[in-house]
Amino acid sequence: MIFLIFSLVAFYLEETGSRSGRFDSLHFRFRRWMQIGRSIFVDRTVQPNRLAVEDADPSKFCDLLKTSTTGSMARGRREIEPCSKTYGFPIYCAGWVPFSHIPTSSASQENENENENEGDDKGDSAASDASDKLLVALGGGGGEGRSGVPNALVISGFDFPSRSLSDEPVIRIGTESDLPYRMAIHPTGDGIICSFPNGSRWFKWDLRGSRDYKKLALNPSEESLTQLENVSLQALCFNKEGSVLATGSEDGNLRVFKWPAMESILSEVVDDNSVKDLDFSFDGKHLASLRSSGPCRVWDLNSSSVIANLARESGEIFRFCRFSCSSDDNQVLFVIAMHDDQGKIITWNTTTWKRIGSKRVVKDPISAFNISPDGKLLAVGTIEGGIVVLNSKNLQVHSVIKKAHLGLLTSLVFSQDSRALLSSSFDSTARVTAIEAKKSNGLSMWLVFLVIIVAILAYYFQSNGLIGNL
Ligand SMILES: *[C@@H]1O[C@H](CO)[C@@H](O)[C@H](O)[C@H]1NC(C)=O
Ligand SMILES: *[C@@H]1O[C@H](CO)[C@@H](O)[C@H](O)[C@H]1NC(C)=O
Ligand SMILES: *[C@@H]1O[C@H](CO)[C@@H](O)[C@H](O)[C@H]1NC(C)=O
Ligand SMILES: *[C@@H]1O[C@H](CO)[C@@H](O)[C@H](O)[C@H]1NC(C)=O
Repeated sequence: MIFLIFSLVAFYLEETGSRSGRFDSLHFRFRRWMQIGRSIFVDRTVQPNRLAVEDADPSKFCDLLKTSTTGSMARGRREIEPCSKTYGFPIYCAGWVPFSHIPTSSASQENENENENEGDDKGDSAASDASDKLLVALGGGGGEGRSGVPNALVISGFDFPSRSLSDEPVIRIGTESDLPYRMAIHPTGDGIICSFPNGSRWFKWDLRGSRDYKKLALNPSEESLTQLENVSLQALCFNKEGSVLATGSEDGNLRVFKWPAMESILSEVVDDNSVKDLDFSFDGKHLASLRSSGPCRVWDLNSSSVIANLARESGEIFRFCRFSCSSDDNQVLFVIAMHDDQGKIITWNTTTWKRIGSKRVVKDPISAFNISPDGKLLAVGTIEGGIVVLNSKNLQVHSVIKKAHLGLLTSLVFSQDSRALLSSSFDSTARVTAIEAKKSNGLSMWLVFLVIIVAILAYYFQSNGLIGNL
């Protein structure tokens, strides 16, 4: 009897799990639980589509990794989901490729007319492809040292229906002894600026003929970014249109340029006060900047002047800043601060520049933060490899992925349609987590609990002879 109920619950879980699966990890946990249940009650078959992290040899990692939590990895097999992939080098920076914006260059003259005629069809198929097949860019490596870990820039595919990152990268560019440390992906498809410890390089997309991601190439550009020569950038980003580039360096230089002309719009030097994070406001009029110490500054880009200094309270260290993404009047600025080694989110009114509130959201130091393009969600990542997704309106927890990675999270980026969250880590893995609406799942979760409770009650009553034999 109890076995019957258990199988029914397990079956129900599998059904709802595979259909909706609020978060892959939750789904995964359910599946694991069911597997255990099945092997106890039914059979001992092992699910075949599981991957083991045997190929991620921890001894190969560079010195930096010693500080991260690879210890548990050495202890042996750990199953990873298809939405995670290990790339063989610590990943420092990551982002989504705006594939649908990358212009195609026709391979030859004859194809040109054909392309024009098929323009509409291709637009449609590209649109449907774009939502199923996404591309991510990842950069990192072992640095200059003798670690043997390569430095590389990798473009990899993510298949939405199967929730899996591709086994083989679409593009892989070795960067010799230069470690890709930060990147800014041009939002309308020009290319990628990759920053290294002693300079930055500009890579351009090349898409010939048809709109097929397999035909995509990324080439180092001949145009050099002389303005960024010998500079170690800590933060860089484009505005939404891709017409302005903001850069912040380790030696304390904040510089903003018109793109692609690289004419300077703004410059601020504070010696030995490294720039940590930068963000453009939704309308592109303002820029927020953070340094290792001091307030968060808000700049007006038209007049190149500071319009607000957002002060720290005692004990706070600012780490990240992001403007909320909405065109309405209720815009806020989110600042991530560390307070006694706990991560908190502080919000500021963007009209009065007054502090609205703050909330401690995680117990561990935060090493990555971002906001979804639709403005609804925030994601924080910790040095322990955990991810917390929050509602941006009320800072309530939307979902938690405890061990998304084994090491420090280096970046978190939502896809353009806000349906997926890309995370990367020092543990050499990248992961894409599908974001699903919470409501319906909350309901089905309750349904599951109800079924379990009813089952337990039924069993209790039956074994006590309170109701007749079922
Ligand atoms: C950075 O420095 C290393 C050695 O110090 C050199 O090999 C490399 O070419 C430099 N890279 C850039 C982009 O200047
Ligand atoms: C960058 O460093 C190299 C080697 O030290 C030097 O030759 C070059 O002039 C520097 N460039 C700039 C823009 O400072
Ligand atoms: C930009 O600044 C100039 C003066 O410096 C002013 O005339 C203009 O209206 C400003 N534009 C916007 C969009 O604020
Ligand atoms: C910011 O302050 C203005 C003026 O007091 C107010 O109208 C607006 O609602 C505030 N916005 C938020 C998000 O609190």
